[in-house]
Amino acid sequence: MILIDGKQTAETIKAELALEVEHILKNGGKRPHLAAILVGNDGASETYIASKVKACKKVGFNSTLIRFPSDTSEEELLEEVLKINKDEDIDGLIVQLPLPKHISEKKVTETIVPEKDVDGFHPLNVGKLALNLPTFVSATPYGIMQLLERYRIETAGKHCVVIGRSNIVGSPVSILLSRNTYPGNCTVTLCHSRTPDIEKYTREADILVVALGKPGFVKANMVKQGVVVIDVGITRVEAPGTDKGYRIMGDVDFDEVAPKCSYITPVPGGVGPMTIVALLKNTLLSLSNKLSINH
Ligand code: GUN
Repeated sequence: MILIDGKQTAETIKAELALEVEHILKNGGKRPHLAAILVGNDGASETYIASKVKACKKVGFNSTLIRFPSDTSEEELLEEVLKINKDEDIDGLIVQLPLPKHISEKKVTETIVPEKDVDGFHPLNVGKLALNLPTFVSATPYGIMQLLERYRIETAGKHCVVIGRSNIVGSPVSILLSRNTYPGNCTVTLCHSRTPDIEKYTREADILVVALGKPGFVKANMVKQGVVVIDVGITRVEAPGTDKGYRIMGDVDFDEVAPKCSYITPVPGGVGPMTIVALLKNTLLSLSNKLSINH
């Protein structure tokens, strides 16, 4: 069994990005700049945003964090988005989700100009992904593709079973793994909450991507020997007596399942750290796109 070390891979990619930034600056280019908007102070969102800002600093990107109180109106937020859309120095913009209930996530997502939508959530970018056109691939699917690629995991002709059909993970991962490229060329089965006898499918999987948000859902008897397991679950489970009072659990019962795997991602330290570098890679891509349009 090979443990897929997302933390180490993310560090390697950050080092590569730092070199690219140096190269751009040496050639008279500008520093990539990511802007993030955080509304309110949800605990998990605060943690994610802090990691994103820290990662920007580490690779030499500029970052701007704009904070709004939770009672900010939708109009005020949209105004800020429009302002950033026009800001020539900013290459990428993310609005951290979830937003307070009185603000439409759909409206906000659709207001970000597609050229700066480094989260890849805008319908135009999702449509491009579905059509195999170059675009920003959202953070988690991008991170998963990078792990498969960097561990040189064979995907062509494999049966990939994805559990979960969310817009940000299950659905794009199933599209990406069925593409005629590497990583891809899989036969993909997309399972979800209405799939009866889910074990019937998971036992057939050469590659199993689990993104349903149920801690410890996948057990040893649900997978075959030699499977590649990508665990996308990150549920906070109460853990009295620990420093934080909670611990992060994946969707796979790691202790049971790992011995049967050829490769497996741990939680934490698997897919999670890769999502941040995916965002950085998209920000750099946004800057490169701008340069290639201008020249
Ligand atoms: N909330 C949880 N994950 C994400 C993400 O990838 N992007 C944004 N903007 N918000 C999130």
